[in-house]
Amino acid sequence: MNHSTQQYTWDGRFSEPVSELVKRYTASVHFDQRMWRQDIQASLAHARMLARQGILSETDLSDIERGMALIQAEIESGQFEWSLTLEDVHFNIEKRLSALIGDAGKRLHTGRSRNDQVATDIRLYLRDGIDRVLALLKALKRALITLAEREAYTPMPGFTHLQVAQPVTFGHHMLAYLEMFRRDGERFRDCRRRVNCLPLGAAALAGTTYPIDRTSVAIELGFEALCENSLDAVSDRDFAIEFCAAAALCMTHISRLSEELVLWMNPQVGFVRIADRFCTGSSIMPQKKNPDVPELARGKTGRVNGNLVALLTLMKGQPLAYNKDNQEDKEPLFDTLDTLLDTLAIFADMMENGITVVASRMEQALQKGFATATDLADYLVKRGMPFRDAHAVVGRVVKFAEGEGKDLPELTLAQLREFSPLIGEDVFAALTIEGALSARNHVGGTAPEQVKAAIHRARERLAGT
Ligand code: ARG
Repeated sequence: MNHSTQQYTWDGRFSEPVSELVKRYTASVHFDQRMWRQDIQASLAHARMLARQGILSETDLSDIERGMALIQAEIESGQFEWSLTLEDVHFNIEKRLSALIGDAGKRLHTGRSRNDQVATDIRLYLRDGIDRVLALLKALKRALITLAEREAYTPMPGFTHLQVAQPVTFGHHMLAYLEMFRRDGERFRDCRRRVNCLPLGAAALAGTTYPIDRTSVAIELGFEALCENSLDAVSDRDFAIEFCAAAALCMTHISRLSEELVLWMNPQVGFVRIADRFCTGSSIMPQKKNPDVPELARGKTGRVNGNLVALLTLMKGQPLAYNKDNQEDKEPLFDTLDTLLDTLAIFADMMENGITVVASRMEQALQKGFATATDLADYLVKRGMPFRDAHAVVGRVVKFAEGEGKDLPELTLAQLREFSPLIGEDVFAALTIEGALSARNHVGGTAPEQVKAAIHRARERLAGT
């Protein structure tokens, strides 16, 4: 192929064109075009640096700036023609720039490679994505705090093995999720620091022969640091993997909450009602109201976990430096980001405005499960009995009460004293739900007083982020 028939930016050394299938197989423009803003932003920072360093003339720079403004307008108005032949977002924009402004456009790629260009674009895109995730996580945390405050005194059965264990409050239960999402936020913030490093300057893999100034590019683009090794800068995607790992954990937390919501809104349990706008009906059974949002979130967690495994597997066999394998980083990463953003937005709304707690149903469940049995044991211990003996005594009391069809506080003092003379009239205060709740009065406990204090701390922390 001679110069006049050149179709691709790179086909000078090629003697036959690629087939349509290979063209489609190798192209990424249909999914990487979403990074166009970052691509233009990074190109402009690169061009300005080249001009400052005297590698590019001021006239070329102003042509590039003018050309990029035109391209931005074309893309925003939907007039830009994305071409599969031009492979990816980088070539599409660069070619259009050359078509609009001529030689200055062809000079933009001086001292740069698509390898450091794409790594820069992804990092800029992901940095913005993380900021959006953090904002939505904050909204979700605010929603959980609001709900926890509203239900700080509402008793519900706490479960182990999905069986009634001890009373907690609904507020306390919500604050457990708040802790999970707080750690998720910390993970995303921590990950952001490592995302926010500048690859540009690494060029194809070894750096470049031009007298570039990487620090000024980093400053213009808001990067906190430079990628310190050119080979690493163009090849590793650990920052994307880290994000996907943090996202998988966050979705896993959402999934656990979803599982509980599905259970709680089941009419046989009935602890909560979920507003209609988060549910759908059945095409055949008119009575149904299905918890589609939590079920889908639970399902989508599988996809997000799969994306993490896809990226880990993508990376594990790659020798240094850049390999085309890395083009496959984008779809799992974008899918993870999209899924997480939608899920967080919908859960923030649902938890704030879509959940009605049915206290009476939770109370009924509490009355059936001998939820204060541990409190009876603790009562005996406080009167001198070793805990293991107390455990055995209460086991016998529960067996007896079960036979009578009664809950513990419904037994008479005489009946209780049959099992231990240590039991006195004051036992009933310990056996009530309220007594059991307020007795767990230490940091991290379920006493309403503690829940209130935890809410206060959470509010202060949230304001500080
Ligand atoms: N579209 C490519 C990617 O996403 C850009 C970098 C291509 N570089 C190369 N030498 N083929 O990774």
